[in-house]
Amino acid sequence: MNVDGEHFRSIWFDESDQSVRIIDQTRLPHFFEIIELSTFQETCHAIHSMQVRGAPLIGATAAFGIYLALQEGITELDDAARQLIATRPTAVNLQWAISRVMTAIGNASGDAAQDIALATAQSICEEDVSNCTAIGEHGVVLIRELAGNKQGPVNILTHCNAGWLATVDRGTALAPVYRAWEEGIELHVWVDETRPRNQGSSLTAWELVKQGIPHTVISDNTGGHLMQTQQVDICLVGSDRTTFRGNVCNKIGTYLKALAAHDNEVPFYVAVPLSSIDWDADNIPIEERDNEEITRIRGLNDQGELDSVRLTPEGSAALNIGFDITPGKLVSGLITEKGIVAATEEGIASLRETTK
Ligand code: MRU
Repeated sequence: MNVDGEHFRSIWFDESDQSVRIIDQTRLPHFFEIIELSTFQETCHAIHSMQVRGAPLIGATAAFGIYLALQEGITELDDAARQLIATRPTAVNLQWAISRVMTAIGNASGDAAQDIALATAQSICEEDVSNCTAIGEHGVVLIRELAGNKQGPVNILTHCNAGWLATVDRGTALAPVYRAWEEGIELHVWVDETRPRNQGSSLTAWELVKQGIPHTVISDNTGGHLMQTQQVDICLVGSDRTTFRGNVCNKIGTYLKALAAHDNEVPFYVAVPLSSIDWDADNIPIEERDNEEITRIRGLNDQGELDSVRLTPEGSAALNIGFDITPGKLVSGLITEKGIVAATEEGIASLRETTK
């Protein structure tokens, strides 16, 4: 996507010096910094510390992690794979991407194994871009229809960041938004700040600023009121893992937005690339993160440096659960690269047919 006139992806392999590059998302929105991942451990750190985050992007990064492990001569690849999966347990893309690279490597070794791992990681990235583009094509139909039925901008509410920073490019939930904007549809996006890590106010807002799309950042508690007062036409969110039953696991707080949308008859759609579907299980490991993400907050201080300050009293306990599960019955539809399907076992099964 566009950053001040230059096109960037969120991860790429630089052929000139044979290195893996990422945008350090812990520095956004205040500093745009590109860093190199040169070792397996740096890759694990980048995923765990959320220098890269978002389900499709951590999958793509993990695929490069296996390549870097091979390059360093790490022979216990199963162990490396387990370490990578443990960095962020909820998004199924991590397992999906790693298993794809490991299957591709098969019995290959040495340079051949490295070449296969790199080529597979690069294919995962290319496919992610085309899948997100297709999600945009399918999802824009919903926005077009809403635009045709009203005067003024279509008001879209989104939670967390499911934009291009969460994928390799284009995004999932924001792909239809970008597509609609390119088509000239009048839009406005309500951006949930998404405490505790503020992916909405720091990353989604930054993306929308860079693409020039009108938006307003709101506190996480505001969406219900906006829906009750007819100020939201559609909710669009992403997913870290959608189970074969159609239940959607996404950033904590998504469920509350789905409840409010249901109560106010606001369409609630989830953008789901097939790489984030768990075809086999309905039990989802929910990540719990460091309580400091709740007790403290990070931002730019008056000296222009990133800083962290304490919010809660010493002695208060905190609980930091990363994701929640929205039952399929609250979801109007799943926007996938294959089209829009119902968030039900039948809907998911119809997608599986297309992958055979
Ligand atoms: O903890 P994060 O920032 O990795 O969580 C990201 C989300 O919850 C996104 O909505 C999800 O990964 C879908 S991204 C296309």
